[in-house]
This record gives sequence, C-alpha cells and structure tokens, in this order.
Amino acid sequence: MDNKSLLLDVKNLKVQFSIAKKNAWFWSAPDQLKAVDGVSFQLRQGETLGVVGESGCGKSTLARAIIGLVPVTEGEVVWLGDDLAKLPKQDWHEKRQDLQMIFQDPLGSLNPRMTIGDIIAEPLKTYHPQLSKDDVKEQVQQMMKKVGLLPNLINRYPHEFSGGQCQRIGIARALILKPKLIICDEPVSALDVSIQAQVVNLLKSLQHELNLSLIFIAHDLAVVKHISDHVMVMYLGNMVEMGHADAIYQNPQHPYTKALLSAIPAPDPKAERNKKIDLLAGHLPSPIDPPAGCVFHTRCSLADDECKVNKPSLIGQPTHTAACFKIKQD
Ligand SMILES: Nc1ncnc2c1ncn2[C@@H]1O[C@H](COP(=O)(O)OP(=O)(O)OP(=O)(O)O)[C@@H](O)[C@H]1O
Ligand code: SF4
Ligand SMILES: [Mg+2]
Repeated sequence: MDNKSLLLDVKNLKVQFSIAKKNAWFWSAPDQLKAVDGVSFQLRQGETLGVVGESGCGKSTLARAIIGLVPVTEGEVVWLGDDLAKLPKQDWHEKRQDLQMIFQDPLGSLNPRMTIGDIIAEPLKTYHPQLSKDDVKEQVQQMMKKVGLLPNLINRYPHEFSGGQCQRIGIARALILKPKLIICDEPVSALDVSIQAQVVNLLKSLQHELNLSLIFIAHDLAVVKHISDHVMVMYLGNMVEMGHADAIYQNPQHPYTKALLSAIPAPDPKAERNKKIDLLAGHLPSPIDPPAGCVFHTRCSLADDECKVNKPSLIGQPTHTAACFKIKQD
C-alpha cells in the first residue's frame, strides 16, 4: 500500500461554525459548533476511504472542507504536498481540477435548465476555454459512454432521467476533467437498493480503469463495505475508529462501530435471529455543547467515571486505531 503515491494528507482538521445565541437579551459571543473536531488521515492513489457515521456526525463538512467549500478552522489539508488553505487563489483553482465531488441528491444537484451535455461540459469549458465546440461534444459523449449513458441523449434535460441515470450524469461531470480524487457524499442514499449496487459497481470499475482515489461517505457500514480499502468511523465530529476495511468489519474495537455493525441485517435469517444487537441508545448530542470526556459516553453502555472526564486518544496500530479506554492493547 505504501508504494502508492500519497495524494491527500489531512492533519488534525477542525471546522467550526459560529452560531448566534438564541434568545440572548444582549449581544454575546456566538456559540461555536464543532462540526469536525480534529480529524487526521492519509489517502493514496487508487484507494478508497469509506467514511461512516450517523446524520450530523460531520461527514459532509469534512468533505466540503477538503474541497474548499467551507473554511478550515484549524489543521491542514495537504494535497500533493501543498497546504490547500495557504495556496494563492489561482493555484487553488488549478488544483481544484483534480478534486471533484458527487452529491447525494442526483436530480437536485443538476441544473434543470441546462441540457445534460451542457451540465457535463461545464467544468471542461471553464478550465479549457480554448477547446472547440466539436472537441467538447466529443469528450462529453465519450464520458457519457463510459458511465453507461447513451451519447445520443446529450440534448435531453435532467428531469427526463431516472435517479440512477442522474447520478451517472453527476459522475460524468465529476470525471470530465480527469481528476485524481472524487469525494462521493452519500451518492447512493437517495436511490433504490437495486440501483445503489449498479452505481457502486460503476464507481468501482471507473476507479480501477482510471486509477482514481475515492472518499465514499455513507450513513451505514453496509454501503461502504464493498468499495472501501480503509474505513473511518465518525462520531460528533471525531474520528473514533479507522482502519483497513477487513479489520473494521471483522474486528471492530469501538462500541460505536460495533453498534453500527450490528444494525446491518445478516443475509442468513437464522444468523439474523441469533445475533447480538448493540443498540444505540438516545440521540446524537449537540456539537455546540459536546459531552466532556469521551464524546460517546452519553450513549455508551460501557462508560464509567473516567469516560466522563477524560477524552480517549486513538490507540492501536496505524493500520487500525480506535479511541476508547476499554480497548486492550497487546
Ligand atoms: N454551514 C453550516 N452552518 C452551521 N452549521 C452547520 C453548517 N453545515 C453543517 N453544520 C452542522 O454541522 C454538523 C455536521 O453536519 P454535516 O452536514 O457535516 O453532517 P453529516 O454527517 O454530513 O450529516 P448527514 O448524514 O445528515 O448528511 C451538524 O450539526 C450541522 O447542523
Ligand atoms: S471511552 Fe468509555 S464511553 Fe468512550 S467508547 Fe470507550 S467505554 Fe465508551
Ligand atoms: Mg452529509
């Protein structure tokens, strides 16, 4: 794995949003909402990192900060050796070609007034204005073929396509500049289960063909299982477990990861009936006022006094780490 070139090095990334205090009589300093609270990971060429966690855990904010759509509060996003936040605007614009994003709502993320040909071509025209109309059309139609869309549909509008086809349009648009990394923010959550598998398989085969790296975000561990080399589990802006996909699925360490895994239905009905379920009690606490100590302690059946006061660090091997006091180290 280490022979593959390092693309992305995210170091202790924090993203906070200022939220005006509700019902304040006088002006007072806004609250700070800690959406991402110290996330570090590396991504190499051709690899996929799956990112999972409940709604509100900070997955999209992490993605948006990497791609420069929200400002980084602290930490670094190092892309091929450059800290992106420190790059001059023009240099960042150039780099941005290599980092693209696919969104959750396939139809909603496409401009309804543009033909799909224009939607896919838009980034190409922005970055390569010298290309002739025919060259652009040629490249768009080739990309349409690659993602499984009929090239003669180039002048149709998004509403004429199904959800799965709209996601293929989004993938074609993301790929048209031949990026090195695509961040897929819940790309299949809005699709039927049968279509989900088609889109995941398409991304996998494109990744293989183009040596792409992917960050694949999902709510649950089942969706990212077949596409991820590594998996990061997020809870309330924190990375609570990270490791090779096999280690996460076969030997989960953190109680939160175990709970997420036990929510996946087993394919065999007998195994499903007999399996031990670690239910997640309660709700995600507010990231404006996160719990002291271990952020998971308010929902953890193993929590003790230490968990309420001290915050566990990530421990283990670089290939599999988790943040919990109860993990036995060799
Ligand atoms: N622009 C913003 N301003 C203020 N708060 C924000 C902003 N964007 C996100 N948040 C808050 O940051 C936290 C993390 O949100 P985020 O969208 O990153 O979570 P998520 O894990 O992607 O959730 P979901 O699975 O529902 O998409 C949430 O509490 C959210 O309300
Ligand atoms: S540190 Fe404590 S509260 Fe946190 S996950 Fe481990 S046992 Fe649960
Ligand atoms: Mg999200």
